[in-house]
Amino acid sequence: MCGIVGVLGNGPVAGQLVEALKRLEYRGYDSAGVATLEQGRITRVRASGKLKNLEEKLALHPLAGAIGIGHTRWATHGKPTELNAHPHAGAKVAVVHNGIIENFRELREELQARGASFASETDSEVVAHLVAEGLARGEAPSTAVASALRRLKGAFALAFLFEGEEDLLIGARRGSPLAVGWGNEGVYLGSDALALAPFAHTISYLDEGDWVVLRRVEVQFHDADDKRVDRRRQPLLAGSFLVDKGNFRHFMAKEIHEQPEVVGRTLAHYLDLAEGVVNLPFDFGFDPKSLSRITISACGTAFYAGLAARYWLERFAHLSVDIDIASEFRYRDPPLLENGLMVVVSQSGETADTLAALRYARAQGQHTLAIVNVETSTIARESELVAKTLAGPEIGVASTKAFTCQLIVFACLAIALGRARNVLSIEQERELVSQLIAAPAQMAETLSDERQVETVARDVARAESVLYLGRGPAFPLAMEGALKLKELSYIHAEGYAAGELKHGPIALIDYAMPVIVLAPPDASLEKTVSNLQEVAARGGHLILIGSRTAHTAAAAPLAGFIELSEQVSGPFAIVVYAVIIQLLAYHVAVFMGKDVDQPRNLAKSVTVE
Ligand code: G6P
Repeated sequence: MCGIVGVLGNGPVAGQLVEALKRLEYRGYDSAGVATLEQGRITRVRASGKLKNLEEKLALHPLAGAIGIGHTRWATHGKPTELNAHPHAGAKVAVVHNGIIENFRELREELQARGASFASETDSEVVAHLVAEGLARGEAPSTAVASALRRLKGAFALAFLFEGEEDLLIGARRGSPLAVGWGNEGVYLGSDALALAPFAHTISYLDEGDWVVLRRVEVQFHDADDKRVDRRRQPLLAGSFLVDKGNFRHFMAKEIHEQPEVVGRTLAHYLDLAEGVVNLPFDFGFDPKSLSRITISACGTAFYAGLAARYWLERFAHLSVDIDIASEFRYRDPPLLENGLMVVVSQSGETADTLAALRYARAQGQHTLAIVNVETSTIARESELVAKTLAGPEIGVASTKAFTCQLIVFACLAIALGRARNVLSIEQERELVSQLIAAPAQMAETLSDERQVETVARDVARAESVLYLGRGPAFPLAMEGALKLKELSYIHAEGYAAGELKHGPIALIDYAMPVIVLAPPDASLEKTVSNLQEVAARGGHLILIGSRTAHTAAAAPLAGFIELSEQVSGPFAIVVYAVIIQLLAYHVAVFMGKDVDQPRNLAKSVTVE
């Protein structure tokens, strides 16, 4: 994942830029670069490979500028070559970028039609040219950046350097993190506190949608509507870095809000973003056409990711899927078909039952694939194939960002298998991939309206019992919603398939028990709405999570409504809906004064049976 730094210093800053980039190495990268102003002109030095290559180049061509930006690039659009390395430049501006510009193809064509010439294959370069056009129109740098930001779709963080502007850096955040640091020798921009720790004594995190103008004596924050705003400045405690809560009260809140970033990063790892197709970073080592069946096993939240994946694997790859929780699977002695693939899912990679399920499958001669967040874990080491989720360290005991990244990996796997097995055409693959690529920005948009979730949370916090309903992939999400609620708030909650309502839970309906209906605009919306009406007809306490269409179709008295954009639709809508069920559980627990990050009796990693 890319890392961004910027320095407005008192002397040459190239050394500090590289030092800060070294502190971002942990994010993974394959090329790097810096740009500073030399007598007012932008000078760039970039290199493919590790930072030592950049340092060697800088030793031959030292940069004297007292202002600069730097970047470690983790290739998404275009190979990790020097030409594709950041900073990218348009006339009078250079930019570094972390994230994905979803609409870069159309912007690139539009800019080329107006005469821009592109030097790289990246999505990032369109940003430089858009800002350059604004500057050429005579706009001030901040105006040019603000108007360019309005044209960009996607989830990203950006930092800009301008020709002739010795006292100006501009940063912007939408979906990917960015922070401003104040030090004794200058002001700084960085992807995280870790990058800024050696230089800055205080730090402010940009809020979603913010952009910031940095000068040595003044830093001006602007919100998504371009209004001037203040952002809290807090001490940067040495040693707090990686386990830093940022602006959030709890790790869980931070991890929920990191999702646009880490889901984007995970997508970039499994997709060829330029081509809009899946590109798995491993070979199966077997012919997917000969696969007889997929078996999935996991525990807790990871199990629900597997349950959702079953819908995608069956539909897109025409594979039968058997799934069970690992503690049951391992003792069932299930006969496993020859040429079957066992997929185990685990954030920690250390869960004892999941590990035992993997070992059982290996002993039965299955192909094995582990979807894990910790690459060095036992499960990762013991599985033939490893598909990593790039969620980064998850500190909150209740899993959030690892879950959505697991969903992403499964979605890519289902599409890849569908193509390899000739179930999906290239057009169908492209369409599905375009829906996935939209997820990070949709998550960021969903996260920007947290108040509607807080309102519903106040209501749910009074309940003794809660029923979650969903259909299709929203059924496992209903179970995950119920799990999150009980884990964090200790309110009894159950997730049910909406169609199963009549076969039992309908007896529980009264006005005291919230019934939360997940109704994304997908093929089963109509049926879900019918179930909602069955609850309404019995005077149930209904809370709808869905789009305006679902709200209109429901035509029933609602105790609460959490609205998501109509655009969040189709088979992968639950990746974005997941954000809401997490936020809801989080805010209920906060209202109730519960220990959000370490709920009673729970462990992050369950290494015993
Ligand atoms: C524990 C955690 C859950 C997690 C489950 C599986 O119960 O509290 O958040 O989903 O273990 O953990 P794993 O590391 O295997 O995903």
